[in-house]
Amino acid sequence: MSIAAVAGASILAFCLYVGVYGRKKKKEEVVEISTLLAISQHQYVQHRHGITMDKSVEFSYEELAKATDDFSLDNKIGQGGFGSVYYSELRGEKAAIKKMDMQASEEFISELKVLTNVHHLNLVRLLGYCVEGSFFLVYEYIENGNLSQHLHSSGRDPLPWSTRVKIALDSARGIEYIHENTVPVYIHRDIKSANILIDKNFQGKVADFGLTKLTEYGSASLYTRLVGTFGYMAPEYAQHGKISPKIDVYAFGVVLYELISGKEAIVNTDEYVPESMGLIALFEDVLSQPDPEEDLHKLVDPRLGDDYPFDSVQKLVQLAKACTQENPQLRPSMRSIVVALMSLSSSTEDWDFGSSYENPAVVHLMTGR
Ligand SMILES: Nc1ncnc2c1ncn2[C@@H]1O[C@H](COP(=O)(O)OP(=O)(O)OP(=O)(O)O)[C@@H](O)[C@H]1O
Ligand SMILES: [Mg+2]
Repeated sequence: MSIAAVAGASILAFCLYVGVYGRKKKKEEVVEISTLLAISQHQYVQHRHGITMDKSVEFSYEELAKATDDFSLDNKIGQGGFGSVYYSELRGEKAAIKKMDMQASEEFISELKVLTNVHHLNLVRLLGYCVEGSFFLVYEYIENGNLSQHLHSSGRDPLPWSTRVKIALDSARGIEYIHENTVPVYIHRDIKSANILIDKNFQGKVADFGLTKLTEYGSASLYTRLVGTFGYMAPEYAQHGKISPKIDVYAFGVVLYELISGKEAIVNTDEYVPESMGLIALFEDVLSQPDPEEDLHKLVDPRLGDDYPFDSVQKLVQLAKACTQENPQLRPSMRSIVVALMSLSSSTEDWDFGSSYENPAVVHLMTGR
């Protein structure tokens, strides 16, 4: 065995040790970003290809301009609160490039380097950045649009109930990961259906993690400038700018109500009256009735028809209600939300299984009975 191979093997063994130890520790305490770095470097050794290469975090303007056809309108995917997003083909892989409206501080750039090493199946990966001229962020490209489009635009097929529960679980896992594995704790601060991207296998991935940190430098850490989207903002954040992981829990609760109802976070209650009300209030009105079942049925997305198990809907409504409580301390942690959704997701899979195989012979075969 050569010296390089021995060195390589010991680094791998160390990384594996850190990985396993880190995971074990997760139960009691958070794992530092430097640990994440070690784990992801191990992953890098295993999957060395294209722009996932660790050294490629900094791109030149020339390379990004070439990959987007000079940021042509044809390649523009959308516009958000921080800048415009372009589709690109970069080093043979698809990527989404966000051209930011603001400049990045030195502090933020050093943080970006760490963020490019955060890997999770349910987080959209940051591949790199560029600070030439403007400030650009380069993300992995997610094929299938965002959750808001799937729920609210008529051009998309309705998402089946089991897929909705699965997407809720995926996103909860992504948020849980950033809450539980970073020191100091990261708070997303802009959880909403437009920031949950859907891949070609209908897996949910949380986008824009770490972006709101851009606005944080130079201000007090616990009370800070508001970033976020109307309709998803927790009251203690909207009124006092107070931030904690529970503001993500609150916004996630609104996303759950969206998944159930197919309605936007802010809804027009009557098309002739331009008054709008939050989705939370709409659900709470119904839930405060002595016998809410009938009206709850009316709140379920009509695009689902009768294809939903009502007990599963009721459980998701209860979870959304718990997440959107006024008192942040009473809201569950993302970790307990993941546990609840795991159990809901497995029971929902069974339900779909029964309903989608009408042929008793097939059911027989598949269940082994
Ligand atoms: N990595 C990506 N892959 C594919 N599409 C993306 C990616 N990132 C963003 N998009 C799409 O680009 C559009 C604009 O995204 P952007 O994040 O700028 O705005 P937003 O999510 O609506 O608001 P916010 O600025 O609050 O995040 C969205 O429609 C989103 O679906
Ligand atoms: Mg976004």
